[in-house]
Amino acid sequence: MTATEQQPKMVPIPPRGVDYRGKVVLAPMVRSGELPCRLLALHYGADLVWGPETVDHSLIGSTRRLNARTGMLEWSRVPSNNAKVNDTTESVIYRLDPKREAGKLIFQLGTSDPDHAVAAARTVAADVAGIDVNAGCPKPFSTSGGMGAALLRTPEKLAGILEALVREIVPEFQIGVSVKIRLLETPEETEALVRRLVATGITGLTVHCRTTPMRPRERAIRGQLRMVGEVCREAGVACVMNGDVEGRDAAKALMQEFGVDGAMIATSAEKNPSVFRGAENGGMAHWKEMASQLVRYAMEVENKFGNTKFTLAHLVKGGHQLISPAKTYVEVVKALEMGEDALRRAVEVDNILGIAPAPPKVVVEKDEVPAKRKRGNQGGRLPESPRSPQSPKKQRVVEETQKQQPVMEEAISVS
Ligand SMILES: Cc1cc2nc3c(=O)[nH]c(=O)nc-3n(C[C@H](O)[C@H](O)[C@H](O)COP(=O)(O)O)c2cc1C
Repeated sequence: MTATEQQPKMVPIPPRGVDYRGKVVLAPMVRSGELPCRLLALHYGADLVWGPETVDHSLIGSTRRLNARTGMLEWSRVPSNNAKVNDTTESVIYRLDPKREAGKLIFQLGTSDPDHAVAAARTVAADVAGIDVNAGCPKPFSTSGGMGAALLRTPEKLAGILEALVREIVPEFQIGVSVKIRLLETPEETEALVRRLVATGITGLTVHCRTTPMRPRERAIRGQLRMVGEVCREAGVACVMNGDVEGRDAAKALMQEFGVDGAMIATSAEKNPSVFRGAENGGMAHWKEMASQLVRYAMEVENKFGNTKFTLAHLVKGGHQLISPAKTYVEVVKALEMGEDALRRAVEVDNILGIAPAPPKVVVEKDEVPAKRKRGNQGGRLPESPRSPQSPKKQRVVEETQKQQPVMEEAISVS
């Protein structure tokens, strides 16, 4: 055997990039793949995490900031579809942890245009370990713009996008570019597509083992997987399998059986992020441990409460009764019995996010307004909830009597 026969071909991995070989990774998931879920997946041993698909034009023109309070990097902008014409409130469209996700986060782009893809990738490329193009989303919002699974029908366009990213992003930022596809109807069609894509200079290809019309509840099909793995291997591109992979141990067995390099997990990890922990390291965690850790991360990064609750609904057994009445982090922390430190943080985050309950309004005659209040002295208390009413200047004064500190005291005493 010659040296070249012994050494399998490998597309070089740029110095700031990552090799997908041997990795069990968290799939990109809109809503379910926000920062707290990714941190939880890493906590339980995911080797890499994909962020949720972000469409190129939402990123272009966004502002990148380091959030001094949380230490997180955030990209924000005024939503273009903002109903209120003069509302310039920015919303965070992407958030990452520059420390815990360093070298582990793959940014997934939704795009149908090479120039837009490059412009969008440029805004995040210095802060992530790879750029992935979504060529598998079957939802009309994606395909109607020529993105996602629509790109499977326009392979030259998809290849053009990948080539542009490889040409413009790889040398400048020293990270890899990859693509996530679905299977086509026949092995011949899939093979032709994969051959074209692996010739673009990408370092990785993920194949979701379902065709575009298949619904998520239909079992993934494995018939074409070995072939896709072989075509990738010939080209030196890492092949990651996806579809009904249920955990680390199952992933390793499937990688071995089908000769692919890595495995990606979506819905099993959405329900139970500890699937990334193999049996030898303790296996599955108790739901309450996972839910509490998720809430800790969510509060740490000031995640939108609605998103945290959405994520918890997947993780918490019997979650409907326990979590669905909760409207604040305080209520969630109490429901999960997470203790006083967590409750203190919950009060802070509820205030920061403006979801602390408006205090009861008490009608007080003007003469009865407490002296301290008249002086406007807040005595070093936490800042007011953004929902707090303003002090009116009428004959009868509606006075907010319950400030933030008492809210916290009340919260803690109940726990
Ligand atoms: C809630 C949710 C959101 C998803 N969002 C994305 C996405 O942003 N990008 C993408 O390529 N696939 C997305 N997918 C598809 C998954 O990444 C994955 O390909 C699919 O669920 C199959 O894997 P599984 O059988 O492990 O669930 C999403 C799936 C779910 C359940």
